[in-house]
Amino acid sequence: MMIVSSLDELRSARLLLDGTVGLVPTMGYLHEGHLSLIRRAKAECKSVVVSIFVNPTQFGPNEDLAKYPRDLERDLKLIEPLGVDLVWNPTAEVMYPNGYQTWVEVEALTKGLEGAMRPSHFRGVTTVVAKLFNAVQPHKAYFGQKDAQQAAVIRRMTQDLNFPLEVVVCPIVREADGLAMSSRNKYLEGDDRKAALVLFQALSAAKEAYETGERDAETLRRKMKEVIAAEPRAQMQYVSCADYDSLEELETVTGKTLFSMAVLIGKTRLIDNFVLG
Ligand code: PAJ
Repeated sequence: MMIVSSLDELRSARLLLDGTVGLVPTMGYLHEGHLSLIRRAKAECKSVVVSIFVNPTQFGPNEDLAKYPRDLERDLKLIEPLGVDLVWNPTAEVMYPNGYQTWVEVEALTKGLEGAMRPSHFRGVTTVVAKLFNAVQPHKAYFGQKDAQQAAVIRRMTQDLNFPLEVVVCPIVREADGLAMSSRNKYLEGDDRKAALVLFQALSAAKEAYETGERDAETLRRKMKEVIAAEPRAQMQYVSCADYDSLEELETVTGKTLFSMAVLIGKTRLIDNFVLG
């Protein structure tokens, strides 16, 4: 497994990779969700590149950039047995050298949901992912459905900017009790870990109502809100029942639908979603 940091090293290492190249972009502190993307890439591609970079430009000024968990040694130990060919772990100076001033922005898709709560977040994500695509030149790139809006935004950017690659979106990996895996679950201590189940429970309540025939989106949103409101440690940021492709809020559920939410459990901000229909 080659491990590189600078752009020159990355380019030289990339030249040694043959066949279909799959890229798995991550911010590290890897868990089974990340590893599932790497396994999928390994199954579908001859060569696999994993990037590990806590991208400062996608964090807001009051967000958790400074305390975001980092442990490169641990990450490399988790990756090694999976047969990854190349790990790229650039520094912020490599990605954003002095004088940096170029940004990639996807418009309508980034306005709602996470974009409404975290202005400039997606500008940071699309910019860094475009830079990763340009540097690594993968044939396929792997993202998780856990970050549903991010996946939709990256699919859009890939199409709009003619990146010659396929975006593969992989299912959410959950803990045994239903909590979606996330590097931020590390922040959950004591009773917060149990309270964090409220996201899965609220989504399950909407799913149950949907499966028994409920199609009124406001009713489905209300069902999710009621479950969240019943958990004293939880503070809802948003709850959404939106069209899967446009991410626009629905009045009536007809086709493929994204049920999603962001909830604060104590100080920890968690997101989760189900796709139904
Ligand atoms: P990060 O949060 O590290 O996630 C890296 C990838 O793993 C993303 O595509 C994310 O959707 C996926 N992932 C996270 N938890 C998952 C889970 N429980 N099941 C399945 N997939 C999961 O997302 C980012 O990093 C960054 O925004 C990045 C794309 C790397 C750009 O900086």
